[in-house]
Amino acid sequence: MRETHAAEHQPTSTATTETAPVTTATTITTEIVLPGVVEVDGLEVRHVAAPTPGRGEVLLAMEATGVSFAEQQMRRGKYYDQPPFPFVPGYDLVGRVAATGPGVDPALAGRRFAALTKTGGWASHVVVAAADLVEVPDSVSSADAETLVVNGITAWQMLHRTAKVEAGDTIVVLGANGGVGSALVQLARIAEVRVIGTASRRHHDKLRELGVTPVDYRDPDLHGRLRVLAPNGVRAVFDHVGGEGVVDSFRLLAPGGTLVSYGTASTRDAAGSSKAPVLKLFARLAMWNAMPNSRHAHFFNIWAGKRRAAAFRERLRTDLGQVFALLAEGRIRPQVAARVPLSRAADAMRLAESGTVAGKVVLVPDSEVLEGEVPDGGRTSEA
Ligand SMILES: NC(=O)c1ccc[n+]([C@@H]2O[C@H](COP(=O)([O-])OP(=O)(O)OC[C@H]3O[C@@H](n4cnc5c(N)ncnc54)[C@H](OP(=O)(O)O)[C@@H]3O)[C@@H](O)[C@H]2O)c1
Repeated sequence: MRETHAAEHQPTSTATTETAPVTTATTITTEIVLPGVVEVDGLEVRHVAAPTPGRGEVLLAMEATGVSFAEQQMRRGKYYDQPPFPFVPGYDLVGRVAATGPGVDPALAGRRFAALTKTGGWASHVVVAAADLVEVPDSVSSADAETLVVNGITAWQMLHRTAKVEAGDTIVVLGANGGVGSALVQLARIAEVRVIGTASRRHHDKLRELGVTPVDYRDPDLHGRLRVLAPNGVRAVFDHVGGEGVVDSFRLLAPGGTLVSYGTASTRDAAGSSKAPVLKLFARLAMWNAMPNSRHAHFFNIWAGKRRAAAFRERLRTDLGQVFALLAEGRIRPQVAARVPLSRAADAMRLAESGTVAGKVVLVPDSEVLEGEVPDGGRTSEA
């Protein structure tokens, strides 16, 4: 990874009035830059003056951020609506308020929050709108909370807002060992839902421990096996794989069942437009919904409804709050696949893409990780 230092000695604000940021001088942030379509080693580490929070914003000192599937797509230029290169990736983070901007309660300083950012989270200091902050319970570590920000919101909303599962239902979760998948299966079990989960064989024991019936997604007769396990069909299928397999997912539904499609992982490495597979999927889902077959098909998008900002934020705060409460009660087991220092984001990404991990690869400030804890970037198996 290339490392650059820029504007190292530019001070941030020195103002200390009620409405001004409370940082003083020379806070340097370390950030990871995605310069274009690159291999993981093409990520760049940059050291720059920390940004100053504007009106309604806070500066978070990052305590944990993480590698999501979105970053794997973004580094290939394959995420549906990613910003133009170069940019700092990072879908979410947990951090402590280091400075407050004008119009923000200065008493927030020092408190710990989670935030959903889509990009920008892979930095030691991140500016976030104060209205987007969700408090993290004191008893939960930042790394544990991080595993459930984007993953927990996505899983909770798909289960309870889109599919509206009920106790006694049976569902199928594809990629049950992944970040979203492991949150989905645990939340479903808490709701007393029977879960059949697909994953590589190496993850099956762990899934059984979570109360999931595992099936190998590489099995050529995957859908035949799923049918044997649920001969009358299932209440919902959660499919982030997309491609032609989504047809099989829809066929698994019982009458009244719901397909919740939420990604196109199978086309991550495909040549061509990042939008084409998604648009094709949308067309398919719309067609299935229009057919008189008593089954439903939805595409879940965590950002849907963002234009109605107040309602969007309220929903997000409520849902993540419920997930964090379950975490604090010990009813969800956080799945931290590894903790990796921020400036070794390339190793973290290599590990996340290795297909060996269960749960989420978490990035932490460089100062926090002991040498012994640092994984070797996926060159050996984690799982
Ligand atoms: N629509 C939304 O709002 C939204 C929000 C959040 C996430 N997502 C989507 O959710 C998905 C999961 O994200 P994540 O961060 O949880 O990813 P992750 O932790 O990397 O997990 C990905 C999971 O998918 C499996 N997988 C990867 N490629 C596959 C393929 N071709 N066929 C079958 N399984 C495959 C992986 O299995 P192995 O470990 O065996 O490789 C792993 O279980 C992504 O597609 C992401 O885009 C969507």
